[in-house]
Amino acid sequence: MERFYVTTPIYYVNDVPHIGHAYTTVAADCLARYKRLKGLDVLFLTGTDEHGQKVERAAAAAGKTPIEFADNVVGRFKDLWARLGISCGDFIRTTEPRHKRAVAHIWETIAAKGGIYKGEYEDWYCTPCENFLTETQLVNGKCQDCGRPVDRLKEESYFFRLSAYGERILAHIEANPGFIQPDAKRNEITSFLRTGLRDLSVSRTSFSWGIPVPGDPRHVMYVWFDALTNYLSATGWPDDNGRWPADVHIIGKDILRFHAVYWPAFLMAAGLPLPKKVFAHGWWTIEGQKMSKSRGNVVDPDAVIEKYGVDQFRYFLLRAVPFGLDGDFSIKALEGRINGDLANDLGNLVSRTISMIEKYKGAEVPPPINSQDGPMEEDIRGRFGAPDVTYSQFMDALQFHYALDGVWLPIRLLNAYVDKSAPWVLARNKEEEKLSNVLYTLAEGLRVIAVYLHPFMPASADRIWDALGIKGGIAGRSFDEEIKWGGLKPGVKIKKMPPLFPRVEQK
Ligand code: MSP
Repeated sequence: MERFYVTTPIYYVNDVPHIGHAYTTVAADCLARYKRLKGLDVLFLTGTDEHGQKVERAAAAAGKTPIEFADNVVGRFKDLWARLGISCGDFIRTTEPRHKRAVAHIWETIAAKGGIYKGEYEDWYCTPCENFLTETQLVNGKCQDCGRPVDRLKEESYFFRLSAYGERILAHIEANPGFIQPDAKRNEITSFLRTGLRDLSVSRTSFSWGIPVPGDPRHVMYVWFDALTNYLSATGWPDDNGRWPADVHIIGKDILRFHAVYWPAFLMAAGLPLPKKVFAHGWWTIEGQKMSKSRGNVVDPDAVIEKYGVDQFRYFLLRAVPFGLDGDFSIKALEGRINGDLANDLGNLVSRTISMIEKYKGAEVPPPINSQDGPMEEDIRGRFGAPDVTYSQFMDALQFHYALDGVWLPIRLLNAYVDKSAPWVLARNKEEEKLSNVLYTLAEGLRVIAVYLHPFMPASADRIWDALGIKGGIAGRSFDEEIKWGGLKPGVKIKKMPPLFPRVEQK
């Protein structure tokens, strides 16, 4: 069975989950669900990044030990993922023994090949970003990325020979254009690589909340050296690495350099294969503003779900913005999508179809009567064959919004079909065969649409199947089989249900 390995970043536990974390994780879930439907054996990994000075400080401020502090936040993440329907097969914590073992092993492997040496470090360090900065990278003496004050660090440190890998990484990128996506992000990385790389300090003696350097426990490892290795440790490496390399690391654009430069260099130094793809998505602003604690505009996914629903949130995240670009989260836009795409288009189609089958056909899916087919039915069936190619291409390229766009074509087509075929007129005129054919076409169209929607809105897609009287959910079925026209069995009892996507009151 073909395997597929997709990851999210592992999230810092100094902060509770927000929309940014939910975004990456929902996107990865969508891809994982799609690949499973396509019959692949999927490993979908997420987790938490628990070491480092940032977490140590946050724990101290809360009067807790780092691990107590982490346990609590990990609980928040796991609860949110369960609520959001995240189908991750594994959740890795960097405080777990399996991870610590793998990190120690990759360190020793690299060191044994001469990739790590001891020296002395002096530079600026941004603790919130866990990143070193040279004098020229400071902006008005502050961090170029987050604008916060930086600390001067001078300490004995182990260094990783990053400078030796710039050319090799460039060559890899050139030979594998799909390695860094989107293209604009790849160009940023190649420009960065061309400026040349400095060796990287990969250990600290100034704090202790981390994984000790093998053989020199005064030092703990640089948190990114520790964190990036999670992708490998979750596969069971070094004992078993049948799952490595990852097919795709889905990350936010802010952490691309770590994934597209440092991580490949560590892997090359250890003699391990590189991940096949690193996909960097954009950032959300909130109502036009940068999201920040100080602005008080951090979007809490739980609050959005509470008010609008899980699938409404999932849909918005993946539909509102092309994956890879920045976007804006606003209540107006969210409500607009819910009332427009979800309530008017999809929800309406479901409720009209179900209530007409109930009213005109005793709540039983009628048989198709092909002798009654006209140009509209032929058009519908023709188009239901067509979306698959583009849908699959878009899904494989992580272009979720285009895939959804494509699914809305048959949804709109079926809504127009209801209006044009006017089943209520057919019922009045007792054109029973024609009526059966129309209602079957609608129900069958919806069944197939639900399959396309499953990766995006798993619970709602299952509710559509349930309404159509299909037993069992979509997960675990075969995409290629289920999108074939004609799968719905005539004679099954449909089920009335409350509106799939209730309209929301817009201000
Ligand atoms: N711990 C590191 C990742 C280590 S991976 C080996 C980290 N963690 S994080 O908790 O800061 O989460 C980062 C993820 O959240 C990134 O993918 C980042 O892009 C995403 N987001 C944080 N704020 C965001 C927005 N405003 N919008 C979209 N995503 C954002 O970095």
